[in-house]
Amino acid sequence: MSERFGLYIHWPFCLSKCPYCDFNSHVVERIDQAAWREALLRELDEGADRTQGRIVTSVFFGGGTPSLMDPATTGALIERIGQRWTLADDIEITLEANPGTIDAERFRDIRSAGVNRLSMGLQALDDAQLKFLGRVHDSAQAIKAVELARAAFPRISFDLIYARPGQSLESWRQELDRAIAMAADHLSLYQLTIEPGTPFHPMAARGEFVMPDDDHAAALFELTQDITEAAGLPAYEISNHARPGAECRHNLLYWQGDDFLGIGPGAHGRLTDEQGRTTTHRRHRAPEIWRGMVMEKGEGTAEAGILDAEDRTTELVLMGLRLTEGLSLAKYPDLESSLDSKGLAEMIEDGFLKRENNFLRATPQGRLLLNRVIERILPLE
Ligand SMILES: C[S@@+](CC[C@H](N)C(=O)[O-])C[C@H]1O[C@@H](n2cnc3c(N)ncnc32)[C@H](O)[C@@H]1O
Ligand code: SF4
Repeated sequence: MSERFGLYIHWPFCLSKCPYCDFNSHVVERIDQAAWREALLRELDEGADRTQGRIVTSVFFGGGTPSLMDPATTGALIERIGQRWTLADDIEITLEANPGTIDAERFRDIRSAGVNRLSMGLQALDDAQLKFLGRVHDSAQAIKAVELARAAFPRISFDLIYARPGQSLESWRQELDRAIAMAADHLSLYQLTIEPGTPFHPMAARGEFVMPDDDHAAALFELTQDITEAAGLPAYEISNHARPGAECRHNLLYWQGDDFLGIGPGAHGRLTDEQGRTTTHRRHRAPEIWRGMVMEKGEGTAEAGILDAEDRTTELVLMGLRLTEGLSLAKYPDLESSLDSKGLAEMIEDGFLKRENNFLRATPQGRLLLNRVIERILPLE
């Protein structure tokens, strides 16, 4: 059983739906804050009954837009977590915020509720680009939000989306330089992906905008690695950058295969059972169906199961190779023998993977083609 144990709490509401986003997020006319508090607390209690004795090392309020959650609800959830579990002395409690939904007072209230790390969706620092991305904030609001967050929280991070249509290397360099000047010690930099089912999908198919081709996207990725590294914020994961020691501990827990409990609509989790097997759970995605289930029987699980050895290997490889340090072969001593030995030898020989200090990691060349590299080393179905 992993030493670290995290709680993920999903808040499924947003002010408006961004045209690129396929997260479980919904726009509703009115949120019944009291009803949502009650349901989240109930599912949390049920989860606590099943994970007694664990020490909570991180909590992550994700969404959706959890900065729309009444800070009193955030506070009630954190208080209940403290009553039901032991908390690690250095517990990390992150909340995701949208710059269009906060002001100084809201930040103070979220901080007083117990949140000690704020992660903001800035997405761009250019008004035309923010409009293209369908954001409710402009760049002045984004900059102000970072200033306020830095004053209110000991740790902050923000997200930018790059590899946008028409983005040149030079314009991204300038935008990233400005972002780094504002950043604290953590940045998430995602390449824009066109997800099926989002408004961007048919727009891209109709040619209303043209996405960067693979070569240009790779050049933007490499530029990102160079600039962030030179600024002391190297990538510790494909899209995440931090000063050493400032990595998001909660997200590390996913990538390193540790246990976490998912609470709220669409949340999923992984828990090691008494026989050492990895159990999975996923809550119902639809907010009101989930809430109905929780009010009726205390939890809203739509699917639960046990990962077989092959699926667990696949998951550990998919997650671990995203990390710069790679996958720990010391932590998972049986893992190497369950990989395709011929594929693994070839990938090492060709310079896409490296085995070093008991870690298996992707080289810079391997990171550019990570999905293909992973396909080669996973055992054949
Ligand atoms: C749950 S949101 C963060 C908090 C808040 N909802 C917001 O957007 O301000 C998670 C992040 O995923 C990234 N993201 C979502 N969909 C994406 C896509 N299709 N391509 C690239 N990044 C995406 C965005 O940077 C976003 O900030
Ligand atoms: S990117 Fe964030 S604000 Fe936009 S719809 Fe997705 S979850 Fe909501």
